[in-house]
Amino acid sequence: MTTQIDSLEEYKKAYQESVDNPEDFWKKQGETFVWKKPFDQTLQWNFEEPNVKWYINGKLNITENCLDRHIEKRGDQTAILWEPNDPSAPIQKYSYRELLSAVNKCANGLKERGIKKGDRVVFYMPMVPELAIGVLACARIGAIHSVVFAGFSAQALADRVDDAQAKMIICSDYNHRGSKNIPVKEVVDDAMDKSCNSVETVLVHKNTHGEINWSSEVDFWWHELIDHQSSKCEAEEMDSEDILFILYTSGSTGKPKGVVHTCGGYMVYTCYSFRNVFQYKEGDVYWCTADIGWITGHSYIVYGPLLAGATTMMFEGVPTYPDAGRFWEVCEKHKVNQFYTAPTAIRALMAKGDQWPAKYDLSSIKVLGSVGEPINEEAWNWYNDHIGKGNAPIVDTWWQTETGGILITPLPGITDTKPTYASYPMPGVQPVLVDADGNIKEENDVEGLLCIKFPWPSIIRTTYGDHERCKNVYFSTFKGMYFTGDGARRDKEGRLRVIGRVDDVINVSGHRMGTAEVENAINEHPSVVESAVVGYPHDIKGQGIYAYVISQNKELDDTFRKEILAMVTKEIGPIAKPDKIQFVSGLPKTRSGKIMRRILRKIASKDGNNLGDISTLLNPDVVSEILNGALV
Ligand code: PRX
Repeated sequence: MTTQIDSLEEYKKAYQESVDNPEDFWKKQGETFVWKKPFDQTLQWNFEEPNVKWYINGKLNITENCLDRHIEKRGDQTAILWEPNDPSAPIQKYSYRELLSAVNKCANGLKERGIKKGDRVVFYMPMVPELAIGVLACARIGAIHSVVFAGFSAQALADRVDDAQAKMIICSDYNHRGSKNIPVKEVVDDAMDKSCNSVETVLVHKNTHGEINWSSEVDFWWHELIDHQSSKCEAEEMDSEDILFILYTSGSTGKPKGVVHTCGGYMVYTCYSFRNVFQYKEGDVYWCTADIGWITGHSYIVYGPLLAGATTMMFEGVPTYPDAGRFWEVCEKHKVNQFYTAPTAIRALMAKGDQWPAKYDLSSIKVLGSVGEPINEEAWNWYNDHIGKGNAPIVDTWWQTETGGILITPLPGITDTKPTYASYPMPGVQPVLVDADGNIKEENDVEGLLCIKFPWPSIIRTTYGDHERCKNVYFSTFKGMYFTGDGARRDKEGRLRVIGRVDDVINVSGHRMGTAEVENAINEHPSVVESAVVGYPHDIKGQGIYAYVISQNKELDDTFRKEILAMVTKEIGPIAKPDKIQFVSGLPKTRSGKIMRRILRKIASKDGNNLGDISTLLNPDVVSEILNGALV
């Protein structure tokens, strides 16, 4: 097992070692895993191409480390504990032994359908155990999984399937979500009608008893393909740098990009970070409320916890069903020890009142985690007071899809915590703040752009099918550094606080979106001439979506608004629907024709009286019109 730090001295020592001699540091961690063939070098890298390789020539299969190696010591321990959407429905438990056998059966089923090493498999599924099983089954046979959050639209799903050239889609028939029953297979059918020409099989897990359409050539039932398979399946030998998965995420421009993570480094870093950030101890029950459709679910529901031999809970439902006490009821019911969620959920539950957590015994909780967006002080304090009762340190974990694992965080009970501060880098992580020219700001009590100047094992390797894009987005802004796209401040004592994105990426309820993506969706409406989308502060969601829309020959009424919302839902999914739509006659532009988003952001953020000099705009008059009509 990777090292677990348990004192401040050890943290300092580990950190120093990891900076002075990163290769030795990560070599030692790497050697704690089962390798089919040991690696012969720990790291090769340059950030110019970029080209980063960890655990060179090592051969492994991550599932042997997640499953097989635990059988002897904890074969009967619960690996996955599943809590259903409906609180009265039965829970499910998979021991490590049962999980291994389920993964192997699934792996054999995938093979029967012609899936082999290197093939891409897209998942479009709710939070049921079969999602984790399917993902691990891909890893078992060396197929590359790409999980698409099941809230995305058919178009968004089709875009991802096409980009990955996936051979198979695995979905469910329907998805229980609160009081709703969502037709998942129907969305897949729609996606298949649009494109998805690479797909040979749609594997359908029966989750409810709803009716679905069936296409006899491509559709297969999970239970018919998988249940009769052998529970033995040799784990495919993978190179450390073979692709483990692709996960699509939004950037400032263009379509979502496929972030690529590879087998060796990702394995070492997710295990190491999981054990240290959550201080997981034998017998603990760990719960991360994220969806496996996001990186948090990959690294800290599936891989990190299983690599560490933990009991990891999967929750099918939503925080407010059947009522706003659900999270706390589940914590009490399963005596959860580590609870990891997003600020947006904390704020939403805080707004429902203190009486909800007060009804439940939350004394089992030892560590509280936060992830996905900046946590405001009020939410931090409420989480601390009402959930942790002052006894459970909050780990405000900063990281990204691209980083694969948590990079900046307090270590609970080891380093101090300060509201809204992600605080300290993990061992092996070298963050720097730079100015716009890339000069490193060495001093404390400053703000700057957050970069990382040295690779860590789970760093993004490429963007699938487009290495140039990876280079341009992350490694070209500042020479020799990975640029995160975030702005941050360092306090007087050296703690880091991540303030938010400095690019055209917005973070709505912890969901990452490119403003350009939302604009493109709005522009699909035939009566829209042009649009501009910005984020604005939102009490619950962190950021809301504000859209300025220029239209042609269309009555600017609620019907049009609804059509725009429907268009965004169709193109991306309901999570991208603008909260506010303002119809305008023009957008403020520079003389070279660039939209001045800075001005639009200020207006949307109720800061419209403080726009600075707008005289150089091509069309300054439009600004007062927009200000007068602003929906603030
Ligand atoms: O802006 C940062 C914000 O979320 C972005 C990454 O989003 P995504 O790739 O979807 O991954 C989210 C889950 C890891 C970052 O660029 N972010 C994430 N965690 C924090 C955060 N901002 C402030 N504090 C955090 N703890």
